Amino acid sequence: MSTWDPAEPVIELQNIHVIHKSRTGTMFKRDTVHAVNDVSLQVRKGHTLGIVGESGCGKSTTARVMVGLQEATSGTVLFKGKPVARGAKAQKEMGMSVSMVFQDASTALNPRMIVRDTLLDPLNVHGIGSPKDRLDKVKDLLAVVGLPLSALDVLPRQISGGQRQRVAIARSLALGPDIIVADEPTSALDVSVRAQVLNLLQDLKAALGLGLVFISHDINTVRYISDTIAVMNAGKIVEQNTTAEIFDNPQNDYTRTLLDSVPSLI
Ligand SMILES: Nc1ncnc2c1ncn2[C@@H]1O[C@H](COP(=O)(O)OP(=O)(O)OP(=O)(O)O)[C@@H](O)[C@H]1O
Ligand SMILES: [Mg+2]
Repeated sequence: MSTWDPAEPVIELQNIHVIHKSRTGTMFKRDTVHAVNDVSLQVRKGHTLGIVGESGCGKSTTARVMVGLQEATSGTVLFKGKPVARGAKAQKEMGMSVSMVFQDASTALNPRMIVRDTLLDPLNVHGIGSPKDRLDKVKDLLAVVGLPLSALDVLPRQISGGQRQRVAIARSLALGPDIIVADEPTSALDVSVRAQVLNLLQDLKAALGLGLVFISHDINTVRYISDTIAVMNAGKIVEQNTTAEIFDNPQNDYTRTLLDSVPSLI
């Protein structure tokens, strides 16, 4: 029996550091990059956390730690209140609960797999239901992300960038996650469809009670969707507060610099 209370964080990072070895330096002493420097964050159901900061500040590395794709150099990752355990069973449980949407769906999706198989794949891997149940679930997923059934038989290159990102979002929902970590999910899209994908994420969060981590270099995009915002600079969270407080009463110089930068239209 789990004693985890759904009001508590699903994922909590405590004092996480990630030091990457870079490709420069000598064979004996490679240079290092302190990509994530003492980051602490909580991710809850029904809540959107925005992470904003310029390129290279450590957003994606933080995201990868949250979903278990990147090991921290030091610090603690708690999943439903307990330190993340190694081993297949624990990883599987976390994999079902926390899923990720990447910036570029054209590389995140297998180019040789039709949409039906892309969406069936996680259900097959986790052995969920009968073949008919799985196909029904795939059809539901398409409807949830606003794609027609005719999308079942197409390859990623046969649909638009916005539709591909909808497929990637559908796949991220396949196992009924608690949390979706979306790393720049609209940055590779045409401006005209960015708002649609943002609204889809927003609607899914509300309808399914999901927790959302929304990562962007653009503070106005983050503002649109987030309940709270963490501002990152050079691997550190320099300020974390409600969206209203970040915009109305920024405490940190770097936050003010971001707010002063050119406003964008999502
Ligand atoms: N696998 C890796 N090996 C070595 N260095 C890495 C690796 N991944 C990231 N880095 C470095 O760590 C730092 C943080 O990178 P990260 O990708 O987390 O930043 P980001 O905020 O997501 O940037 P962007 O907005 O460009 O996506 C950068 O200096 C980057 O070059
Ligand atoms: Mg990134």
